[in-house]
Amino acid sequence: MRILGIETSCDETSAAVVEDGTKVLSCVIASSKKDFQSVGGVIPEEAARRQQETMLPVIEKALSDAGLRLDEIDAIAVTTGPGLLGSLLVGTMTARTLSTLSEKPLLPVHHIFGHLSSTWLDQESEPIFPMLTLSVSGGHTELRYRRSHTEQTLVATTLDDAAGEAFDKGAQMLGLPYPGGPALAALAEKGDESFHDFPIHTGDNFSFSGLKTSLKYFLHDRSGPEALSTDERASVAASFQRAIVLQLTRRIEKAFGEYPKTKELHVGGGVSANTRLRAELSRIADDHAVTLRTPMTLRYCTDNAAMIASAGFFLFKEDANITKKVWTTQAQTAL
Ligand code: KG4
Ligand code: ZN
Repeated sequence: MRILGIETSCDETSAAVVEDGTKVLSCVIASSKKDFQSVGGVIPEEAARRQQETMLPVIEKALSDAGLRLDEIDAIAVTTGPGLLGSLLVGTMTARTLSTLSEKPLLPVHHIFGHLSSTWLDQESEPIFPMLTLSVSGGHTELRYRRSHTEQTLVATTLDDAAGEAFDKGAQMLGLPYPGGPALAALAEKGDESFHDFPIHTGDNFSFSGLKTSLKYFLHDRSGPEALSTDERASVAASFQRAIVLQLTRRIEKAFGEYPKTKELHVGGGVSANTRLRAELSRIADDHAVTLRTPMTLRYCTDNAAMIASAGFFLFKEDANITKKVWTTQAQTAL
């Protein structure tokens, strides 16, 4: 089954074709992140306008890269939320129109379910349930115990900021460019993470607001980031990153005790690109003798349509009524 995926939940416009939920035939991502660097964040109105311009060329390229015509596609999967409303409308209306014209099923996909499916793409072997999946992005931070694609228990979630948001806000305080996560991680590589003990929240859920405040006061006491030497700045970044990573991984360690049948450990979402986090997860996976799966390329960590096509496939496989369900409910609410 070949699915055309469409993802436009934030600043990116992405389309992809995925076969049987796992084999990526094409994945095109047009991001407008660079345009927002000077203002330090996405302007929703601007993002939606760019998406309106790039949506059709991106879909055309995804089809031609896969060597397929629209009538050779079996279904269309699209992110219905959460995300920026204008951006989501561009994707959902395009998908709906294409589905009506081509008479192919339309599969609505929750963005986070997309990230959960990103560890299925192009893997050498098929993942085995049950697994613990950490999903970490700029909008959410969740640890789930997954028995199947649709059966799962939410083990932990954030009480305030998302892990990616903590990276972004920390980066902003250190005077780094947007998007802050990769910039802070790159700076941290040159630093000493034992330089400062930032607080690591303990508890069954995640929380990053105390850590953020702690960095704010630390920088205030040192007369701002400009007053730090280059080495000190890198070490503050490394210490801050350590506090985020250890909070995530300590909860995962605990979850292994709570869910002893766990066979694999997965991580997805933008923050899964972080090498410090990956190193820690790899150590935990070794200790518990389970397989660690990360998205196969960095493009599958951050927002992309391949993961949406994959999620659409698994949803359809486990519940063929999915096409009718969500759209009918939405239509009823609107009426
Ligand atoms: O999944 P994603 O592309 O978009 C959302 O759904 O939010 O994740 C973006 C987030 C941003 O907060 C970004 O700073 C963070 O992922 N991120 C990273 C790294 N690469 C991206 N955070 C830490 N280290 C990285 N290498
Ligand atoms: Zn995302």
